Amino acid sequence: MKKDILTLIDLDNEDFEAFFERAFELKKSFNQGTAYRPLEGKTLGLLFDKPSTRTRVSFEAAMVQLGGTPIFINARDTQISRNEPVRDTARVLTRFIDGLAIRTFSQDFLNEFARFTTISVINALTDLYHPCQVLSDIMTIIEVKGGYKGVKIAWVGDGNNVSQSWINAAAVLGLKLSLACPKGFMPKPDILDKALSKNNGEISISSDPNEAVENADVIYTDVWASMGQEGEQSSRKPNFMPFQVNSRLLARAAKDAVVMHCLPAHRGEEITGEVLEGPQSIVWDQSENKMHMHKALLEILILNSTDRG
Ligand code: CP
Ligand code: NVA
Repeated sequence: MKKDILTLIDLDNEDFEAFFERAFELKKSFNQGTAYRPLEGKTLGLLFDKPSTRTRVSFEAAMVQLGGTPIFINARDTQISRNEPVRDTARVLTRFIDGLAIRTFSQDFLNEFARFTTISVINALTDLYHPCQVLSDIMTIIEVKGGYKGVKIAWVGDGNNVSQSWINAAAVLGLKLSLACPKGFMPKPDILDKALSKNNGEISISSDPNEAVENADVIYTDVWASMGQEGEQSSRKPNFMPFQVNSRLLARAAKDAVVMHCLPAHRGEEITGEVLEGPQSIVWDQSENKMHMHKALLEILILNSTDRG
């Protein structure tokens, strides 16, 4: 039976814990130089319809290190761009490959793909969610803070795909998550309501960045305009400027607070160069963990899916 990673709200506590545990083990053995190739003969497709540096390369490197083969598929070069139905593409790719990571705009596209294939489908970012990002981010928080229970995470900025995956993770794991988003740029109400209805964790939301970061252990931000919203880049600036993560805002957080950003970053917009390059920034370690987490996901999902259909 295959398992997909479409959104974090679909996972349970045990799934998260299994991914963290395995990611830490794989990171340790990678750093010790131990070769481990359980996916020899297996193939991962990466169907991408938006640019990517970290997610693409970390998935490709993860697959190679596990002994398997990644195949990058630019969606614009496929028949999908000429309206071949998703369900047809899904059933054809199923015959060739053993797992598929998809980066695209629409969550419905991803869900439809998952419905019509018997191989595992992994969300490598949609307009709604970025689940793998948040899985590796929590891994980094565990590393730096010794765990995630009771750790106050402040999200400052757009109520976007990454923030919505944080909301989902908070609902499943019981995280203490304070979001500050400009009015008009809040996370989607249905996503928030579903997470809040789980009644697990402490999720609060406001338009006050000072309040959100008060005594925070982690400050997290992301770009003001995500991929697909480039046309709004300049019109968004006045709304978002008060949400910039700078040294003044950082001073309101806990003394040992760390700063996270999924990257790519725009210095002078959502974060100052000083904070991004400063001693409290852990963005490079955060980025590194994407590869270790992706190895854990690929190993668990591909080895456990026996039925290719
Ligand atoms: N953080 C992240 O997903 O980066 P890329 O867009 O470079 O993959
Ligand atoms: N919110 C950003 C994340 C990039 C990794 C985007 O969707 O463009």
